[in-house]
Parts: sequence; structure tokens; C-alpha cells
Amino acid sequence: METQLPTIDHPSTPAIRTRIGRTDAAALVEEVSSWLTVDADEIDAKFTAERSRIVEAVTDMNAAAAGPGPHREDAHYHQQLLLSRIYQTVMQIPDRPSAEGSVLLHEVTRLLENATLQAEDAHLEPGLLESAPADPRQFLSWLKGIVRRHRAFKHPYYTDFINREARSEDLRTYVIQESLIDGRFDDFLAMMQIGTVGASKMEIAGNYWDEMGNGDPEAVHTHLFNKIYEVFDVRPEDLEAAMTTTDLHSGNLAVLLCRYRHLYPEAVGFLGMTEWLAPDRFRNVVRAWERLGLPEVGITYHRLHITIDSQHAAGWFHNVVIPSADSAYMRRGIARGALWRANSSARHLDERLELARPGAEGALAERTPVAAG
Ligand SMILES: [Fe+2]
Ligand SMILES: [Fe+2]
Repeated sequence: METQLPTIDHPSTPAIRTRIGRTDAAALVEEVSSWLTVDADEIDAKFTAERSRIVEAVTDMNAAAAGPGPHREDAHYHQQLLLSRIYQTVMQIPDRPSAEGSVLLHEVTRLLENATLQAEDAHLEPGLLESAPADPRQFLSWLKGIVRRHRAFKHPYYTDFINREARSEDLRTYVIQESLIDGRFDDFLAMMQIGTVGASKMEIAGNYWDEMGNGDPEAVHTHLFNKIYEVFDVRPEDLEAAMTTTDLHSGNLAVLLCRYRHLYPEAVGFLGMTEWLAPDRFRNVVRAWERLGLPEVGITYHRLHITIDSQHAAGWFHNVVIPSADSAYMRRGIARGALWRANSSARHLDERLELARPGAEGALAERTPVAAG
């Protein structure tokens, strides 16, 4: 199952004030979203006169998302919602005209991407990247040690909530929230492998072939993941409205790192940690599934990944990270991507726990209208 491009008719241009507030960020998202199903050249011809207004509005939204002001959460949500919609133009084959390639859309995209990366860098502990050992094996041990001590490593969302407390509807929400990573992991690998050679290329290819079920269409991982949606009757149109800010942010970060060659080191760190963290998390999902007596067909994906992602992580560390970690440039990028994954995952799981636990109704009520866009 894939999320669909928003089907928004071309609206008349809404007036977006330069100071982004709640309504204004939503209006900006709807305006730019309306371009996404218009041919790229048509957009560039038609909206050139709008360029400075749109750039200013996106810049304001990014500033609000990074700042301490009252619109911070709303701006961050809309920033990530817009980026996730734009990314659908590079992650899906369209069945109608697409804005992919538009110069104006690319400018908006870069503003959103740079703001996303700056925010992620702001979460890094100062001096941490500089303290990395130079020897590739010691570098890997150092990095794994940091992540092992990280809140994301054994997060209570999995070890307590999913493991012991989650009910069927919580697992339904969980798999929707995971769709932006698990639902397209094969495409992340396909995107990030361009330009690689030797052991790295072979490791990514082997990992990708596992994603393809080693040639068995019924065993393709995204196919197995989508089986869970049959159990819970999740439809494509349910997905976007269910996404919180950090769901969108995690999915966007994965696309962002995999699509640019200059972010290859970061993608190596990010995807390596994603593989490494998965098995223990999925053990908790399997325990919840068994505790609730849910249909066996829906848990194949998670059961399989407890074993296969341990192998993927080991192969990734040995054949992608260690051979790549022979330059300071690569080590810095790999560590940056790995820590971005750990930090963003911890924030993501903190938010999920806050929303999922009884007693969090206040926070839920406050956020739901935002999440519903
Ligand atoms: Fe997989
Ligand atoms: Fe994997």
C-alpha cells in the first residue's frame, strides 16, 4: 500500500501573512500541495511571480518551527507535513501530472530540508563528533557504545508500553506510524546505493534482495508489512491524518538522507542504526501480538526481522561502515547520521508514549487537531 498524492484542486491563492501562525502555516501547506499534481514547467511558468512571497512564507514557517514562540509545534508539524507531501513526488510513480523537477518546488524543498537538518544538528551534543576515534573498528565500537547508552536503545515505549500495555488499537496506530520507514525501506536502499562500489555495494545489494523476499513475491518485506494493514483494515486515506509531527519527521529524514549523494555517509549511519535497533523493538511487538492473540498473518514481518535485521546490522557494520570509515569526512557523516537516527527516534518514541499512555489525554487533545491538519 502506498500513501497517495493529495488530491487537491487548484485553489485560488490564499493570502498568507508573512508572520506564520497556525492558519497561515496550514494555508501555505495547502497552497504548495496544490502544485504537486501540476506539471513542473507549468508551475515554474505560472508561479514565478509568487516566488519571493512563497520563499518568505516557508522561511517564516521554518523560523517558527525552530523558535520558542507559541506557534512552534504547529509550524513544525506543517513544515514536516509539507516536506512529506513533496517527497511523495520522488517516492511514487504518479498517475497524473507531477511537479517533480520544478525549480520553484526545489527551492521550497531545500528550505525545508535545510531547516530539518539544522534542527537535527542542534540536538547533537557539542564536541561529540570530534571525539570519534580514527581507527575504523574503534570508531564502530565507539558509535555502538554511544547508541547502546542512548534513550532510544531500549525505549520504554517498546519495553513497557508495547510489550505490556498496548491493546489492539494501539498496535494499529503503531503500524500506521511506522509506515513511513518500514513501508518503503527497500526504496531507501535502492536510493542510497547509487555510486557505491565493492563490499558496500554487495552488502546493500544482498540486503535489498532480502527485502525482495529473495525473489519470492509473497515474501517481499513491504508486502509482508502491508499484511498488517489487512488485519487492522487500514486504508491509504487513513494514513496521512494519523501522522504526528515526529512520525512525519522520521520518515522525511530517511528520504532526505537517501536521496542525496553528499549525504551518503549520513545515510550509512542512519540506516545501519535503523537495522540495529529493530530486532529488540520487534521482540516487544511480537510479544504484544501474542499476548493479544491477533491473527498470525499480521506478525510475519516483525517475527522475520528479529533475525534478519540482526544479520543486516552485522553485515552493514562489517561491510559498509568499516570499509567506509577510513576518512575523517566519512566518519563524521556516519556518526552524524547514526546519532540523528538515535536522537530523532528517541523524540519520536517519547511523543508516542506521551500520546499513548492513559492520562495523556490533555496532550492528546491539544495535539489531535494539529495532527489532523
Ligand atoms: Fe526488511
Ligand atoms: Fe533489514
